[in-house]
Amino acid sequence: MIRFEQVVKSYGDRVILDHIDFEIKEGEFVVLIGPSGCGKTTTLKSINRLIEPEEGRIFVGGRDIMETNPVLLRRKIGYVIQEIGLFPNMTVAENIAVVPKRLKYDKQRIDKITRELLEMVDMSYEEYAHKYPSQLSGGQQQRIGVLRALAASPPIVLMDEPFGALDPMTRNALQDEIVRLHKKLKKTFVFVTHDMEEALKLADTIVFMDEGKIVQMDSPDEMLENPKSELIKRFMGKHLSDNGVVSLTTQDIMKAPPASVYKREGVKKSTEIMARRQLDALIIKNEDETYAGTVSVRNIRRYGKEAKNIGEIPMSPHITSYVSDDASESLDKLLDSDEDFIVVLNDKEEVAGIVTKTSMARAMADALWGDES
Ligand SMILES: Nc1ncnc2c1ncn2[C@@H]1O[C@H](COP(=O)(O)OP(=O)(O)OP(=O)(O)O)[C@@H](O)[C@H]1O
Ligand SMILES: [Mg+2]
Repeated sequence: MIRFEQVVKSYGDRVILDHIDFEIKEGEFVVLIGPSGCGKTTTLKSINRLIEPEEGRIFVGGRDIMETNPVLLRRKIGYVIQEIGLFPNMTVAENIAVVPKRLKYDKQRIDKITRELLEMVDMSYEEYAHKYPSQLSGGQQQRIGVLRALAASPPIVLMDEPFGALDPMTRNALQDEIVRLHKKLKKTFVFVTHDMEEALKLADTIVFMDEGKIVQMDSPDEMLENPKSELIKRFMGKHLSDNGVVSLTTQDIMKAPPASVYKREGVKKSTEIMARRQLDALIIKNEDETYAGTVSVRNIRRYGKEAKNIGEIPMSPHITSYVSDDASESLDKLLDSDEDFIVVLNDKEEVAGIVTKTSMARAMADALWGDES
């Protein structure tokens, strides 16, 4: 489907892509990963000819892309750029319709596509189609960015760190969604990240790049078992432990500090914090710093108008654990619940951090390392 043959790209005398050679099969979910500046974005942009290499050849669907009209090429390739890039003066529906409109689809067809796409990510057409990007949470904006790339149903979708700016919970939810979309749509996805947990979760095949070269291209399992370089090992697990996950405490695997506000905080200020930090839920504290509960966007939308402060909005008590608890215990709690995260408290019942499924993935990678070493 996509094939690179000895592709070389330089800027001045700096070689950015150094004889890149790989093949991506139709329907495959490929994740490009590696340190900042290693050439991930350059590789991605070479696929739709936003960047043209000076040596080597690139084939898409069997054709050398240098012999394909770039406009026609890009119609077959959806692209989600590193920053979301929704048009702020267009509604959600208009944003999704950008490419179909350019392709002169009729209005009915565009409407149908927009409805179907929004439905796929559980955003109702009635509620969202006519909103502007600034009226959406960060996670919702990101969803629309992905839908926009899918709108003309291209067989290939390129995504450059689409979830890079999101908080762990939202990021986790969108990762689940993108896996679902991939299963359902059976398109070829090429996804860039510098987060190994994300790569392990999403990829059929991981391409690890370093300084313009491919160091390893393998399935997640193979890469976990046989990483080919020290750098890949470092990307995979930070703290290697002999006993694996059992020796870790919840403190070791939590993310801290989480965004939180006092009960007395105004609703407007609280929603601003959520918007800025791109959160779907906010942790609420009592005056003495102890944990009061968690407020969801949904409840804010439902009760926010009448409430004088955030403490008046119904909270759901989240599942909690303590910093000193065994990490495995907290992970079991998270797995047994329907929650995206659990709240971690210190011995004074104050909010210390959260454990998400992403922290769990990391802990599991570490556990595997424990077995290896
Ligand atoms: N137009 C340009 N002119 C000169 N150098 C460039 C240009 N575009 C990219 N580079 C350099 O090429 C290298 C690779 O850039 P690229 O954007 O592909 O990295 P990346 O792996 O996507 O990094 P990040 O994770 O930070 O997004 C970097 O060192 C960058 O500075
Ligand atoms: Mg990049």
